[in-house]
This record gives sequence, structure tokens and C-alpha cells, in this order.
Amino acid sequence: MTNLEHTPVMETEVIEFLSANKGTNFLDCTFGGGGHSKLILSATESNNLWAVDQDPDLYTRAVELNKEYGDRFHFSQINFQNIDSLGMTFDGILFDLGISSFQIDSQTRGFSFRFHSKLDMRMDNSQGITAHEFLEKASKEELTQAVRDYGEERFWKRVVSAIAKQRGTDVLLYADSFADMLKKTIPHLPYTRIHPATKTFQGIRIAINDELNSLKMAIEKAFDLLNDHGRLVVISFHSLEDRIVKNFFKKISDQILANNDNRDPGAKLLTKKPMVPSEKEQKNNPRSRSAKLRAIEKFNYGK
Ligand SMILES: C[S@@+](CC[C@H](N)C(=O)[O-])C[C@H]1O[C@@H](n2cnc3c(N)ncnc32)[C@H](O)[C@@H]1O
Repeated sequence: MTNLEHTPVMETEVIEFLSANKGTNFLDCTFGGGGHSKLILSATESNNLWAVDQDPDLYTRAVELNKEYGDRFHFSQINFQNIDSLGMTFDGILFDLGISSFQIDSQTRGFSFRFHSKLDMRMDNSQGITAHEFLEKASKEELTQAVRDYGEERFWKRVVSAIAKQRGTDVLLYADSFADMLKKTIPHLPYTRIHPATKTFQGIRIAINDELNSLKMAIEKAFDLLNDHGRLVVISFHSLEDRIVKNFFKKISDQILANNDNRDPGAKLLTKKPMVPSEKEQKNNPRSRSAKLRAIEKFNYGK
């Protein structure tokens, strides 16, 4: 881990949509650098916060927050698809998806094409397969799904066939050599400032961490764990993530119409359209540019 801080996105909106000035028990499903966790804990002294993250490297960061906030702060290193194992219910639950600056700036985790590190990319590096193993073993369909669908890489055909050609060589073993291969494979487009490897790296990261399935499972569980009038806030950075959130929120808020009869819990959409960061924030924190925030409030209908 480096000493760099992770700048939390949409701070004001997160506190407002979580109603963190009023609540008591909150869950931060994506602890990362602890930026949002600290905000929630500082919003009022009566707030308690449970935070989870699957990255084992964040434990030391969590210990720092423990020193600062004592027993108002609790941390568990788990995948957020297992948040029901905490055995708690909450007044507000936050997801700030994707990877943190700690991960992207790590010289050993393989998330960044800037470093000569093993191409790992696992958020929980104690289990699962590395990006290198995925590139060596995945079927053509799995590679296509990662590069074309998750990475949204326009030149996915060239990338998939270049990966197949380099199997068994050191090129796929390291982040920087894989990025160089992508640079040679993908035509240079004028007026683009992003590195040609960016989209493929993103797609492979989403695939090996099974990010979309985890999100689908986790937001359903999160909704179940909300108290009456509890708020669920999700910040996503990818159109496929945003679609999952949008569809789930729509489904759950539509139940409001049917509710008079079946008394299932329903929800009120707090954001008809996703909120995006202000121009000022986008300028100051380029990572925030693709952020979309959606929020709902749960109603239990007297249950
Ligand atoms: C964008 S960062 C969060 C930054 C944090 N909100 C802050 O202000 O410092 C996303 C974090 O979510 C974690 N994460 C992503 N998917 C996860 C999952 N399925 N289970 C647990 N943690 C996950 C990553 O390891 C990463 O640390």
C-alpha cells in the first residue's frame, strides 16, 4: 500500500442521501481508503459504522480508524456479497464501487499498467485466479466477454487474438509487458488521452473479480438489511454496474404500487436520474468523472 490518500467521491451527496446526519447504524460496503467511512462517522457522534472490504491490505487502514473512532467503528474483511453474515440491520448502506487509489497505485498488485508487477488484479489476493492465469486459460468466449463487454474495447477482436498468440510467454505475466502488447495491438486514436490498455485492464479486472455478479447479489442483500426508512446509496463507475443498480431500484420501487395487497417491503426512488459530480469535483478529481449515484429509501409498510 502507498501513502497516497483515496479522495472520496460525491461527499456531500453521500451524506445527504444516506441521511447520515440523522441515522445511527451504517454500513460501508466498500471501505477502500476509509474516506466515506470517516465522513459518516464524523457526520454525528451518534453514528456507528460497520465497514467491509475484501482487500486484505486494508486491515492496517481499518486499525487507524479504530484508534480514531473506538467502538463506533467495526471492520470485517469480507466480500460484500456476504454482508448478511454481519447479522445486523442498518439505517443506511453505501457502495462506492470499483477500485481504490491504494489498489491502482500499488506497485505489486497488478492493477496498473505503469508498473513491472505480476498481472494479479485480485481484490482479495488470498483466493481466486490471477489475471495472468485468466489470460492463459480463459476460453475465447470468456476473453471476449471480458474485453468487449466489460472493457467496452472497440478493438476487442484484435486484443483477443493477440492474447491467444502470446499464451505461454512472459508478455502475459507482467502488467507493463501486457500493456505494451495492447499498445502495439490497438490503433492509436487521435484526441484520446487514455492509455490504450485502460479498457482491457478494466474488463479483465471486472471478470476475474466477478464484480457484476457480486454487485447483483449484494444490493439485494443490502436492501433486505435496511431498517424501515433506511437508505441505500450506490455509486457506480461503469455502465453495466449502473444498469444493475437502476434495474434493481426500479423493480423494488415498482413494488410500491402492488404493496397495498401483498405488504412486501417497497422503496421510494430518491434519484429519478443518477446524480453526477459537480463540474468542480470532476475538475479536481478526474476519477470522479464517470461516477453515477443512485439512492432509494425502504418502506416496510407496517411490518
Ligand atoms: C472505490 S474504492 C472505495 C473507496 C472508499 N469509498 C473511500 O472513500 O476511501 C472501492 C473498494 O471496494 C472494494 N470492493 C470492490 N468489490 C468488493 C466486493 N465484492 N466485496 C468487498 N469489497 C469490494 C475494493 O477492494 C475497494 O477497496
